[in-house]
Amino acid sequence: VGEVARVKNLNKIQMGKHEVESWYFAPYPQEYAYCDTLFICEFCLSYYASQKQLERHRDRCQLQHPPGNEIYRHEEISFFEIDGRKQKTWCRNLCLLSKLFLDHKTLYYDVDPFLFYCMTIRDDIGCHLIGYFSKEKESSENYNVACILTLPQYQRHGYGKLLIGFSYELSKAEGRAGSPEKPLSDLGLLSYRAYWTETIVEYLLSTNEDVTIEEISQKTSITSQDILHTLQNIGALKYYRGQHIICLGDKVVEQFERNREKKNKRKIVSSKLDWKPLH
Ligand code: COA
Ligand code: NA
Repeated sequence: VGEVARVKNLNKIQMGKHEVESWYFAPYPQEYAYCDTLFICEFCLSYYASQKQLERHRDRCQLQHPPGNEIYRHEEISFFEIDGRKQKTWCRNLCLLSKLFLDHKTLYYDVDPFLFYCMTIRDDIGCHLIGYFSKEKESSENYNVACILTLPQYQRHGYGKLLIGFSYELSKAEGRAGSPEKPLSDLGLLSYRAYWTETIVEYLLSTNEDVTIEEISQKTSITSQDILHTLQNIGALKYYRGQHIICLGDKVVEQFERNREKKNKRKIVSSKLDWKPLH
């Protein structure tokens, strides 16, 4: 692979009814590298050099949702769990697709050690992929997310926070705290900070008791370290009479209330998760 191949090649993709500009290089096979537009089957994620080829494929393709177990359904949102070892081609295609929007992740071929949690929105045609996160089957560092992506056509609608919320729901079911793999991209960090702040502030406002960082961690499955950083970020850690205390400022609370009033805010409903951890 020479230097030339590292340059962002494909300018855009077409997927379902969306046309999307790519952001970064992705190592699609050489014969596709110089296409202006790549045509992607939105269900099986296979790729074609022309609209005609995609249409021919669509006549045969039976898939209407990601090829795994549906482990969550609430309103039109579903999550499917896909094992990289069992669905190699689909997962490799997903990794290739997501590399178009990720600067530095390098997982494309070795998908076996990962599970992929894919979030979809349902209509008459099928369950359309909105985004996903991957997770190592065994993480020595207690990472609960390896890679996370909302497809650009769905970004800035709160789906990233929904994906993040789901990753912590799995950690709660596992009975442990988790954190995303580092380094995070700029957008990833913004989204996590927003999620952490919202979740921690919500919990603090829901109780009149004095709580410790450990207790917040047990309730939310956010690690103590991420909680500490979040509290520092929002200026909620005060030193008072020789002790550290958690204290929310008026501005933080006002911001939280304003956010809560935003219409169309989806949240993960714990009772809709139908999933047991492997160990
Ligand atoms: N500019 C400023 N703030 C942004 C932002 C942007 N472009 N995108 C997200 N945010 C912040 C906001 O605070 C937002 O909350 P708000 O809309 O209530 O203010 C919060 O992040 C979450 O936004 P949300 O709409 O839930 O996220 P998303 O669906 O757009 O997805 C990512 C977020 C990170 C998954 C998405 O940007 C993405 O896929 N990026 C490319 C891949 C990547 O970098 N992944 C992470 C590293 S592995
Ligand atoms: Na990244």
